[in-house]
Parts: sequence; C-alpha cells; structure tokens
Amino acid sequence: MPTTIKVDLGERAYEIRIGRQVVPGFSLETADDLRALIVSDSNVDKLYSEKCEAALQARGVETTRTAVPAGETSKDLKVIQQLLEEAVDAGLDRGSVVVALGGGMVGDLAGFLAAVLLRGVKLIQVPTTLLAMVDSSVGGKTGVNLPQGKNLAGAFYQPVEVAVDLATLETVPEREYVSGLAEVVKYGVVWDAVLFEQIENSVEGIMSRDLDVLEGIIARCCEIKAEVVSMDEREAGVRAVLNFGHTLGHAVENVAGYGELLHGEAVSIGMAYACGLSQAVKEFPEEESKRVSALLERLGLAVRARDRGLDLSWDQLRASMAADKKTRHSVLRFVLAENLGSVVFGCEVPEAVLEKVFTA
Ligand code: GLY
Repeated sequence: MPTTIKVDLGERAYEIRIGRQVVPGFSLETADDLRALIVSDSNVDKLYSEKCEAALQARGVETTRTAVPAGETSKDLKVIQQLLEEAVDAGLDRGSVVVALGGGMVGDLAGFLAAVLLRGVKLIQVPTTLLAMVDSSVGGKTGVNLPQGKNLAGAFYQPVEVAVDLATLETVPEREYVSGLAEVVKYGVVWDAVLFEQIENSVEGIMSRDLDVLEGIIARCCEIKAEVVSMDEREAGVRAVLNFGHTLGHAVENVAGYGELLHGEAVSIGMAYACGLSQAVKEFPEEESKRVSALLERLGLAVRARDRGLDLSWDQLRASMAADKKTRHSVLRFVLAENLGSVVFGCEVPEAVLEKVFTA
C-alpha cells in the first residue's frame, strides 16, 4: 500500500502517493475523451515515458508524449511556447491533463505549461528525482528562468495529484541523488528534530538507496511540505522557512556559474552558513550547528565553497544575495535556527556578522 499524504488546500486539495509501482492518474475520473500530454526530458523519456503512458492509457486516457532537452536551459519561455503549440496540436482541451514526468526542471516547466495552457488545465506531478519528490513536485511553485535570474517568471499552480514511484530513484545519478539529500536534511533542521535524528541514524541505508529506509523519510518530508504549504500556499509567511540555506545557496549557485554546482550542493553550503549566522545572532547551540554540518558531510555534501574547490568572492556573493527575488526593499532577511527543528524567518543580520561568518 502506498503512503498517502493530503495537501489540504480546500477545493484544490490533492494527494501525494508514495510507494513502489505508484502509477500516475489515480485522481482522474475515467471519462471518454480525456487527453494527456506527458512532458519529460531527454533522459527520463527513455526510462519512464512508456510506463507512464501505459498507466494512463490503462485508465482510458489518450496520450501524447514530448521530451525537452535535459538541463536547466530548457526552463525557458521559448520552450513554453513550443510546448503550448504541441499541446494545442495534440488536441488538448480545458478538461485535459499535463503530466510532468521528471526532476525539478521538468516539474517547474510542465507545471507552468499547465498553468497557462488554455488558462489552466489539470497538472499531475510524477517526480523521478529525490529533489523533486521531497520538494519541487509538492506545493505548486512553477516557472521558468529569465536571463536576469532563475524562476523569475512563473505561477503558483497546484497539481491534482503527485505520484511518487520510489523505484525511479534507482536511476538517479549519484551526484544528483546526494544533492537532493540537502533538502531532506533541511526538513529536519527547520521542522522536525526527530526526522533529523532519524536521518543521522539512517545514513547507511540512505546512501545505499534502501527504499524501505527512504520511504519513511521521503514521506515525512512530503508531510512537512504539505503542512507548510497548507498553512501558507503563497509564501506570505511561514512557507519562507523552506528557504533555509537558500539565500547564500542561490548566491553560491549564481556566482560559481550556473551548472558548476547542483542546487542541493549550494543549499548545503548555504545551510551551514545559516547555522553559523544562527549561532551568532539566535543563540543556536554550537553543538547543534556541528551536528548539521557533520550530517551533511556524512551524506557526501560540502559545507564550504572552498571544499568544492571554489574560491568565491564575498563581495560578489553579497551583491548576488541583494539581487535575490526574496529580498524586499534591499534588506536581506534570513531563516535562522533557534534549535534543531525550530527556525524563525524574516531575520535581519548585522552586515559585519554576515561577512564574518562567511570568512570564518
Ligand atoms: N522550495 C521551497 C518551496 O516550495 O517553498
């Protein structure tokens, strides 16, 4: 039996199902003339599109498949234009479905497609990477990049279901898998000290991708995400806690040059930094800060840019943080930890502390 988690958003509530052999389409009422466009990327298409198509066809859905080139460059408005034209040519109508089959890039891209196609059609998220399973497939953030920065055009657009087949984790490249673990650790730090301890005690099973171990951990991450999103869908408040480590993380990604570091790799560095700031201004115990860094390192993640051979200039990082879309009125606000499992958002930090913790 899959684990089922509800994202409680009233009329737009939906289920996340997590397990083995979870197939997409479980939320669809079988009806004549239901059409789906399955969007994946050139890697995932070869692995899982046929299976996804067969599952939908078994429910009477007419399907069309398309795949964009793998990689962040596909998260582009020009690709949205192409996909919109493909969807219209394939005969999709207001009752149709877009299925996002893949990692975070595909989920964001196909999610945005679903939001704007015919002013909105149903969206099914079928994440096939760890990062997409625990983070980007849940909660309705969709969008594409602009030359000025990542995710600068997009919409909050919730799926009608999230179908997580854990078996797809077996084909995730090691570096990408490890990168996804940064977001897993994040949930422990921001919300649940018991989860944090569970991760500490399961490093071996996590690294060997033991699906029995991963099922419980992924389900708990999704439960937390569902709870936070249900409280604050549009990030007016508490949802910001999910950005723990992301302020410096995004800047590191940007200054290192997109593609140099994976998102989770940069977030790991950002989380260690946020722990340092938390020690400096929130009395976050040094012991707990060390536990966070130690866990990230045991999972194969770096906690300092220089540990990845990067010599990044503080001035450039500081400028990049100021340009982040989360910055308002030029004031940087951080999510900081008070204890493991408990964070506060919207924290200002004195300028001197920002630099001192980075250079320490
Ligand atoms: N990835 C953070 C969020 O969905 O809010």
